[in-house]
Amino acid sequence: MAASLKDQIQELLGKINPGGIVGLDIGSHSIKVCELSGSPGKYKLEHFGLFQLSEAAIIEDEVQKPSEIVDGILEAFARSKIKSKMVCFGLFGPNTTTKRMNVPEGSKEEVEDHIMWEAEQYITFGADESQISFHILGTNEGGGKDAMIAAARLETIEAYSELIKEAKLVPKIIDLNVLAVSNVFEESIRDQLDDFSEGTLLLDVGAQNTKIIIYKNGGPIFTKEIPVGGGLITEEIQRQMGVSYEEAEDLKTTVDDNGNLPEEILNILNMQLDNQIAEIRKNINFYIAQGSTDRVSSCFVTGGGSLALGFLEKISAASGIEAERLNPFRRIKFDDRKFDHSIEDFGAIASVVIGLAMRKD
Ligand SMILES: Nc1ncnc2c1ncn2[C@@H]1O[C@H](COP(=O)(O)OP(=O)(O)OP(=O)(O)O)[C@@H](O)[C@H]1O
Ligand SMILES: [Mg+2]
Repeated sequence: MAASLKDQIQELLGKINPGGIVGLDIGSHSIKVCELSGSPGKYKLEHFGLFQLSEAAIIEDEVQKPSEIVDGILEAFARSKIKSKMVCFGLFGPNTTTKRMNVPEGSKEEVEDHIMWEAEQYITFGADESQISFHILGTNEGGGKDAMIAAARLETIEAYSELIKEAKLVPKIIDLNVLAVSNVFEESIRDQLDDFSEGTLLLDVGAQNTKIIIYKNGGPIFTKEIPVGGGLITEEIQRQMGVSYEEAEDLKTTVDDNGNLPEEILNILNMQLDNQIAEIRKNINFYIAQGSTDRVSSCFVTGGGSLALGFLEKISAASGIEAERLNPFRRIKFDDRKFDHSIEDFGAIASVVIGLAMRKD
């Protein structure tokens, strides 16, 4: 299909104003944008912007308030002072999937055919209506190829691309949030990759969903999204205390000078966290069981929902692995005078968007 005039103008805009790739994470709680300079091992965070969305602007992967999303993208860009228009955005939800697979040795075409044929078996939302891409991670012990497949439904890609174009940006690269988390983890431990050869559990706890990633040998071997996150705590505070979404968010995140929450709030939070962790546990049982060949031996958490008081302790107790915070700024430089977030909060909220901004093609 020929590109519409509008698309051609947008493409041209991108060429006139090339700049770098900007990461864009349209989360259900907030929109984040970021631009990095440098290259793997030497990145620096140059710009970051965030726009907080109102209640239920996005439900699952469905945008409920499109004009708020467009305005939010524009506002996050304005706050960040980013000039480039070229965006890498991340998709998530039931219309996306990943699959790690072994592909027998063969010509380039044979390998490609095999990947596409196998990928089609796994795409529950229709391979014909999806965009499928793959990346060869390396060669297996048996001589075949180790491939990572990612797919997203065209309708979902188009819906998000339209919003991005409405914000006068060029949607240049499409990624999946689970892969962005995996990439940012890899960047943060690039000098000690050998220490993580046994497999790592990565959790991105957002507002509406939690992304579970088992990382091993250069990429995820398992990814899953479950519909639990910090938003459930907010909802319960709203329900029990009879307050608005904004008030409940404040109550949940405002601690006293000693870092404590009022008892009433803490009780709600603990109850919701216990449910959330039980749900996560169900999905990782296989990977934490004694004797499992894909057993994980380390765990890193990220996402705003992981900042909830006691989350690290609870997930450590449930998994039997001492969980740590994923810190993108372990390797990526940033000037803390330029950004008004503590490094811990910042790392949790920004890891997906940083992973997206790392993509170059
Ligand atoms: N200090 C804190 N304590 C508890 N919860 C927090 C804290 N800071 C942020 N949160 C919660 O984190 C969630 C937002 O996290 P994040 O920005 O990772 O979500 P998102 O990416 O917008 O959502 P999703 O990934 O589900 O689409 C919200 O539920 C918010 O209330
Ligand atoms: Mg998120």
